[in-house]
Amino acid sequence: MEPDEYIRALAAESLARDDATGWWDTLYAAAGEGVTEIPWDRGGPHALLASWPGPAEPRGSAVVVGAGLGGDAEFLAARGWRTTAFDISPTAIAAAKARFPGSPVQYVAADLFDPPPSIAAGFDLVVESLTVQALPPSYRERAVGAVRALVRPGGTLLVIAAAADEGERSEEGPPWPLTRAEVESFAHQATGLRLVSVEEFREGGSHRWRAQFSA
Ligand SMILES: C[S@@+](CC[C@H](N)C(=O)[O-])C[C@H]1O[C@@H](n2cnc3c(N)ncnc32)[C@H](O)[C@@H]1O
Repeated sequence: MEPDEYIRALAAESLARDDATGWWDTLYAAAGEGVTEIPWDRGGPHALLASWPGPAEPRGSAVVVGAGLGGDAEFLAARGWRTTAFDISPTAIAAAKARFPGSPVQYVAADLFDPPPSIAAGFDLVVESLTVQALPPSYRERAVGAVRALVRPGGTLLVIAAAADEGERSEEGPPWPLTRAEVESFAHQATGLRLVSVEEFREGGSHRWRAQFSA
């Protein structure tokens, strides 16, 4: 079975039990046993993170949300960010630690919806790449709010996501790509998080957003 098909079958089974996140650890464990592959495992940072001009100088702490196998977190740490990376899957976290022995990254198994105090305290840079889109649309508003809450006053949020045109929404996922309005919804007047830029990339069959916010 193709990895995408395998993932959708696992997710559908978990969602039928009203469990939006329970299948991730099963997936990483299956990949560890060679049963399937992790399609987003690129062995390095996402291209839109690697090419992001970002803050000119690293200036403090960074967190990677839903960090998977650690490629984005290692990239930030190598650029001088004091980096934490968390994922709901303990198997993914163990695999990232094994892949990068001696890494300065703090790898933590944690749930975005119930972060431990060390994560809930907030960060100067928050990188959310492909995690919100991996949760069903009914979780979107909550997930966006939970990501937003991790940005410290004066901090920066970077969002990388698959893009959907308005009205293009498919019920079949993951992923469930974000519309422009959804990516812009990370901005929030009450918490002072403002939109700095949204870039749209259309290349071949892929359509993606890279958005930056400042608190
Ligand atoms: C599509 S993958 C993207 C992984 C990584 N950001 C990347 O781009 O390689 C989504 C990740 O989010 C994690 N995840 C899903 N729900 C989560 C939650 N509630 N809290 C933390 N991580 C979560 C999954 O385990 C998975 O590693």
